[in-house]
Amino acid sequence: MSFRKTRPIEGQKPGTSGLRKKTSVFESTNYLENFVQSIFDATGGATGRTYVLGGDGRHFGDRAAQRILKMAAANGARRVIVGQGALLSTPAASHLIRLHRADGGIILSASHNPGGPEGDFGVKFNGANGGPANEAVTGAIHARTLTIEGYHIADTADVDLLRIGTQQIGGMEVSVVDPVADYAALMEELVDFAAIRAHFAAGFRMRYDAMCAVTGPYAREILETRLGAAPGTVVNATPLPDFGGMHPDPNPTWAHDLMEHMFAKGAPDFGAASDGDGDRHMVVGRGIYVAPSDAFAVLAANARLAPGYARGLKGVARSMPTSGAVDRVAAAEGLAAYETPTGWKFFGNLLDAGRATLCGEESFGAGSDHVREKDGLWAVLMWLNILAARRESVREIMTGHWRRFGRNYYSRHDYEALPVATGDAILAGLRARLADLPGQEVSGLTIREADDFAYADPVDGSVSAGQGLRVLFEGGGRVVLRLSGTGTEGATIRLYLERFVPGPEGLDQDVQGALAPMISAAEALAGIRRISGRPGPDVVT
Ligand code: G1P
Ligand code: ZN
Repeated sequence: MSFRKTRPIEGQKPGTSGLRKKTSVFESTNYLENFVQSIFDATGGATGRTYVLGGDGRHFGDRAAQRILKMAAANGARRVIVGQGALLSTPAASHLIRLHRADGGIILSASHNPGGPEGDFGVKFNGANGGPANEAVTGAIHARTLTIEGYHIADTADVDLLRIGTQQIGGMEVSVVDPVADYAALMEELVDFAAIRAHFAAGFRMRYDAMCAVTGPYAREILETRLGAAPGTVVNATPLPDFGGMHPDPNPTWAHDLMEHMFAKGAPDFGAASDGDGDRHMVVGRGIYVAPSDAFAVLAANARLAPGYARGLKGVARSMPTSGAVDRVAAAEGLAAYETPTGWKFFGNLLDAGRATLCGEESFGAGSDHVREKDGLWAVLMWLNILAARRESVREIMTGHWRRFGRNYYSRHDYEALPVATGDAILAGLRARLADLPGQEVSGLTIREADDFAYADPVDGSVSAGQGLRVLFEGGGRVVLRLSGTGTEGATIRLYLERFVPGPEGLDQDVQGALAPMISAAEALAGIRRISGRPGPDVVT
């Protein structure tokens, strides 16, 4: 064991749930080590503790895992449970923390951002509940990165991370586990595998694009081996250090290959993709893309069809910018509905307190109280359960849903990498006028309410202010503006547009066309294009 002196290197910003940087930054001397030592120091030390460790297989993950194991040993940890090959999807890591009642976990991923020597890397600390550390903890870790003077590391040979079983580093036990087995067992408890197996056996076809990221082995085992989907159902199934050059973000832009298959002649019945670390997902039917806010509402409306949710839901929660589609389901079913700020960590208290069972975000994230992260493959399995139970196509399910609840047309427009001053000026300009807006008319729409969203956590009473500018129109339309907290370059403005159509007429419109009044109202109110000089958004989802 040795103590190596270092100088402080600023790491994680307080309020963010992980440290994400260029891979080369993480590979630079002592950068990873300083952050990991700061995690141990800021959480009361590693002595006697048990951790879970794994990541999405991106470049540097295996070397980082070896160093973290040696550091955990030198810091006195009792045991580290690590996925074979240092692989664990984020939801699987969350599950293992809970299953083994570990003190926490370290997840090596930069989520949906590209990997490789030129790409991104990340380290995230999750607490004993299996969820991302809260702001108090991330703040303490950050403070420690500014004062740290050295780290502890064992001077031993690497552990064989391919060999399942127990090894030792000094007095610390390293348990190398199959990354898939416990997660797959959990899915068997929640979802009706027999019904899905019968559905595949009856000819149902699917395409699952793992985007050369971590869910490949999970999806192969669960979909092809346990559920009997045709071999080759899972494509891009081998996790690669650079994701095969892909941008593993499951949306119509980056998962365009899946979109092309689903809109081509002979398309399978159902398509899905997941991101780098497996917490995000996208679902597509034959010739129909399902927006994440709608997909989440469908899960809420049909969850009882899955054995794990047969007794009903305790409540549902969505992030504020997510469309109100799920609120309509909650109202119809008499369920509590919560509106939280953007970011999965805000769901943690609601899940821990048993107030919400399902949580969802418009950014391709959905999950339940089975773990404390969003869970892409779980959502896909829930869809398969629903499709098998209802014996309807994705299109039939969507049109039926809209007929029953009405349709919340929804889109997000991202203006990326703006100069920080420009982004700030656009938000500040609108923020300054919010109080005067109610009652005003803009682009033919009457403003009902306008505010800067603040959230009072119903469990612990903490208040998070400044979470996004909201302008609500008479009739259920809405424009929301906020700055991305995860963008790595300059400022990214996210503009969220929503319009409610109750039906039965007008449920089958083109989304951007249906939102045209909101798009012009947003420009009239905030002037994003006028002030930034950009002709339009960089990404539309
Ligand atoms: C984005 C998404 C948000 C999600 C987060 C982490 O954050 O919008 O819903 O929780 O990534 O996956 P943003 O960049 O908007 O702050
Ligand atoms: Zn992710």
